[in-house]
Amino acid sequence: MRIGIIGAGFIGRAVAQLVIAAGHEAMLSNSRGPQTMSSVRSGIPGSQVGTIEDAAQFGEVVLVAIPLEHYRSVPARWLEGKTVLDANNYYPERDGHIAALDRFETTTSRLLAEHLPHSSVVKVFNAILAQDLVQDARPKAAPDRRALPIAADDPAAKALVIKLLDEIGFDAVDAGSLDESWRFERAKPAYCIPLDKEGLKVALAAAHRQVELPEGSWRR
Ligand SMILES: NC(=O)c1ccc[n+]([C@@H]2O[C@H](COP(=O)([O-])OP(=O)(O)OC[C@H]3O[C@@H](n4cnc5c(N)ncnc54)[C@H](OP(=O)(O)O)[C@@H]3O)[C@@H](O)[C@H]2O)c1
Repeated sequence: MRIGIIGAGFIGRAVAQLVIAAGHEAMLSNSRGPQTMSSVRSGIPGSQVGTIEDAAQFGEVVLVAIPLEHYRSVPARWLEGKTVLDANNYYPERDGHIAALDRFETTTSRLLAEHLPHSSVVKVFNAILAQDLVQDARPKAAPDRRALPIAADDPAAKALVIKLLDEIGFDAVDAGSLDESWRFERAKPAYCIPLDKEGLKVALAAAHRQVELPEGSWRR
C-alpha cells in the first residue's frame, strides 16, 4: 500500500518507519517543502519525500500528523475518496483555543472529518507517544503486544486500519464512531498508556468526557 504522510515530525516519521518495515511505501511532507527533509529521507531508509500535494496524491491512505491548529490547511480535494488517518491532538497551549473542543461539543477527528467531507477519517496513532510506537511494536500474538484505540464512521476504513496496525505490530480496539473518539483524546485513561486489548477496553469504558487529568500528567 502507498501511504502519504502530511507532517514529517515525530509521529509522521515513526509511522513511516513502521509501515516501510511492514512492506508498504511511504512519502512524507511538511509545510516547508521537500528541500528541508534530507534528514528525513536519510534517517528512514526507503522513505520518499514530496510536497503536501505530492504526499496526498501518492497515498492510497494518508496520515495527517500536524499541530491541530493547522488542520484546515490539509488539502481536501486531493484526499477525496481516500482513507485519512488522524493522529492529531488538541493542546490549547500550542493550538490556541477551539471553543467547541473546550466545551466538549465535538472531537478533534470530527473537526478534521468536517474539513474533509469526501474522505473517510480514522482516528489512530494519537494515543501513543511517537517513541513508543517504534519501541512497542511486536509481532502478532506476542504476549506483551500493545493495543491502540481507533475510531471511525466508515467500517471499511476501520477494517483497513485494523489490518494495517496488525501488520506494523499492534492490536486494535474499536472505540466506535468519530463522535466517540473523545474517549482516547488527551488526558483520558487510554491516552498514551501502554495497555493490552482487555486493559484498553476497560480504559475506554472508564473515560468521562469532562474530566481532565491534572495538567502535569498530560502527554503529547
Ligand atoms: N509526538 C508524539 O509523541 C505524538 C503522539 C501522538 C500524537 N501526536 C500528535 O500528532 C501531531 C504531530 O505531532 P508531532 O509530535 O509529530 O509534531 P512535530 O514533531 O512538531 O512535527 C509537526 C510536523 O508537521 C508539519 N506541519 C506543520 N504544519 C503543517 C501544515 N500546515 N501542513 C503540513 N505539515 C505541517 C511540520 O513541518 P514544518 O516543520 O515544515 O512546519 C512538522 O513536520 C500533533 O497533533 C500531536 O499532538 C504527537
